[in-house]
Amino acid sequence: MKITLSIIITLFYFFFAGPVKHPWNDILSHSTNSVSELNQTEQPGGNQLYIKHCLQCHQNDGKGVRGMFPPLAGNDKIKGPATDIIRIVLFGLDGPLTVNERDYNQPMPPQAYLTDKQIADILSYIRSSWGNQASKVTAADVGNVRKLGKPKN
Ligand code: HEC
Repeated sequence: MKITLSIIITLFYFFFAGPVKHPWNDILSHSTNSVSELNQTEQPGGNQLYIKHCLQCHQNDGKGVRGMFPPLAGNDKIKGPATDIIRIVLFGLDGPLTVNERDYNQPMPPQAYLTDKQIADILSYIRSSWGNQASKVTAADVGNVRKLGKPKN
């Protein structure tokens, strides 16, 4: 009988009085918040995504490999309309190309498996690196180009 009563009291307490308020709760919940904030800032940004998906060809300094992979540094196209370079990442690029008086003619594979946000972050990164200075690209910009699909020409 005593046990049943104490169970009822305990249940009553938890149902109606809510969890125990203790200063530790504040401290603990606070530290959980700051951990999740930390994780957010640690999500791969444009820099890390570039390393993972573009660096193997375009290189760490963005200068590419002469005659094989065109430079993204000091390349006017990177600073031009975002739509053009969004298309290249989504749909790839094939055919002869001249960048800074050098010829390139290797296919770049499409990378449509990257999310709109990932592509936006990568392109914002390359548009503001190695001396490039151009506006940010947003996930919405990428989404619009993706919706339009691969151009037919
Ligand atoms: C497997 C190698 C490879 C990878 C990975 C790669 N590219 Fe390329 N990229 C190329 C090649 C090759 C070309 C030139 C294509 C041609 O000659 O038609 C190119 C061309 C480009 C161009 C056009 C340059 C110009 O002046 O027209 C841009 C922009 C570009 N790449 C961006 C990227 C970005 C951003 C990534 C990462 C998301 C990436 N590339 C990943 C090989 C690669």
